[in-house]
Amino acid sequence: RKGGYEYFMLKEIHEQPEALRNTIAPRIVNGLPDFSEEGISDELLRNTKRIVITACGTAMHAGLVGRILIEKLTRIPVSVEIASEFRYANPILDENTLVITISQSGETADTLAALRLAKENGSMTLSIVNVKGSSIARESDFVLYTHAGPEIAVASTKAYTVQLSALYLFAFRFAFVKEKISQQKAQEYITLLEDTIDTVAYVLSYDTQIEAISQRLKSADDLFFIGRGLDYALSCEGSIKLKEITYIHSEAYAAGELKHGTISLITDNVPVIALATQADVYAKTISNVREVRSRGAKVILITNADVQVDASLCDHHIMLPPMEAEFTPFAAAVVLQYIAYYTAVARELNVDQPRNLAKSVTVE
Ligand code: M6R
Repeated sequence: RKGGYEYFMLKEIHEQPEALRNTIAPRIVNGLPDFSEEGISDELLRNTKRIVITACGTAMHAGLVGRILIEKLTRIPVSVEIASEFRYANPILDENTLVITISQSGETADTLAALRLAKENGSMTLSIVNVKGSSIARESDFVLYTHAGPEIAVASTKAYTVQLSALYLFAFRFAFVKEKISQQKAQEYITLLEDTIDTVAYVLSYDTQIEAISQRLKSADDLFFIGRGLDYALSCEGSIKLKEITYIHSEAYAAGELKHGTISLITDNVPVIALATQADVYAKTISNVREVRSRGAKVILITNADVQVDASLCDHHIMLPPMEAEFTPFAAAVVLQYIAYYTAVARELNVDQPRNLAKSVTVE
């Protein structure tokens, strides 16, 4: 069943190009994102004045990426809420708010409760769900299915990247319908999204490099992920992935927030995984890298292809293939999944079944 892979997690990491293709391709008509199959009308999108994304864990982290993209393209406010908080927070909702729930299983109790609350408060609901006919899918006004196929490993990998792709498709359609981007621009974005599938396939070949780096991470007690903007959203995902399967304590920090407390934890040889893929904040993140480096951190730096990295800046440099800044989350996700996976393997842990965790959390 594992198709020759040692663990389902590794198999599922490798299935990402196909999962992305299966999720993206059916939604493209004449080079534009199209949700007529899903019944998501342009009128609904035109009437949407605000979006609330709610989910748990990795699905919530996909929402963090979605927020940045949707707000950037449309200037329409998006908030991302942890479902277990949202459901008890007496949230402000109305008929012009679209509530997007994201869930691989479609059965997460808190996300389902958040969805029900949204409906009770008169909001329209759209779910991004992987499992057909699941509770969240059945109860939502609209469903945008991801087509990752079954995900067995507790650590979510392919479900996350296809959730990203669904959010990107949504953002492009939404921006187009709201007349925030031209048809040509929407088509260009779609082409770039399709190109991302090949980029993800290419990044799968980074396994040997990352396996070697993981050998140097396996004995860490604490580890930090830092980044800004999209890279911070990815840091959150990299951190949960690592801690859930390696049991190494890790934290994700917005790079600029380090000096407000956390930097006191950076001492000799503490690994810091720094994501610096966004040109607009690259110099800022690099200055944070210098700060942690001068305190002895062991730095693993992840950048785009178009920057020159001074060898003295980091212990390991992982360079993503050339791509537009908005699309780096897909490639960075694979790198972070590999870091978690190979570190867990190096620690001789049961990668697919980490202690205390269930694949689907159907109780509060
Ligand atoms: O099935 P869901 O997407 O609703 O699950 C949400 C989380 O429980 C899940 O993403 C969890 O955080 C993963 N184990 C992380 O890898």
